[in-house]
Amino acid sequence: MNNIESGYNSTYKWLHWTIGFIAITMLIFGSGLESLPLNERQKLIMGHSGLGTLVLLLMIVRLGWRLTHRPPPLIDSTPKWQVHLSKSVHWTLYALLLAQPIFGILQAMYISDYDIIAFGLINYSEFAQGNARKAQFFHALHGANATIISILVIIHVLAALYHHFFQKDNVLRRMLPGNKSKSL
Ligand code: HEM
Ligand code: HEM
Repeated sequence: MNNIESGYNSTYKWLHWTIGFIAITMLIFGSGLESLPLNERQKLIMGHSGLGTLVLLLMIVRLGWRLTHRPPPLIDSTPKWQVHLSKSVHWTLYALLLAQPIFGILQAMYISDYDIIAFGLINYSEFAQGNARKAQFFHALHGANATIISILVIIHVLAALYHHFFQKDNVLRRMLPGNKSKSL
């Protein structure tokens, strides 16, 4: 195994896996929402919009953390194209994961078929007047963005497995619980 000296700290790993778990769950179950009857959809959207709002808050904390800390470098022998590709995928995921809940909230504000109340606490429908055209626009953005995030997450997970099983370095292990860190 090629060892890399530094790693991610536990707060950062916790943020990675919590956001990752919620995002994957929402990407899988979000796509079934549209086909449900309105009363069932409204109940599920309470959880969906609440979890999405939580992702937005956690992503803001994570971005702040990430901008003030340096991630551990990849080992020297990593080809340049892999370094660039991994950076691009990571930063694109940051941008799209911040945009996703924002598109969701904008969609929720303009939908007039039913009220969207995150965790039964924040009534997004009260923030603006219903507007079918705007609701449809943000619905389309929310759906398209979800598709792009899903593709990037699949590439991301395959890359992590490739590092672990084929390159046999510790890129995956340093993101797993239990590895002590020095730099992030
Ligand atoms: C990381 C966060 C989120 C993810 C991954 C996510 C994912 C999804 C997905 C995959 C869909 C189905 C899209 C389609 O069928 O075209 C969807 C629909 C929807 N999402 Fe989200 N979402 C997130 C956050 C939010 C937030 C914060 C809100 C609102 C506050 C929200 C409100 C909605 C609504 C209203 C729908 C449409 C439901 C309907 O068809 O009536 N989402 N979401
Ligand atoms: C089974 C699922 C996953 C695995 C095995 C995994 C694995 C990893 C690993 C090993 C790293 C560290 C890469 C490095 O040190 O260079 C990482 C970083 C990252 N992961 Fe994941 N991940 C998973 C799910 C996700 C999901 C669902 C998302 C987003 C929705 C995500 C977003 C990110 C981002 C943005 C980074 C960059 C961290 C940074 O340097 O700031 N991951 N992931």
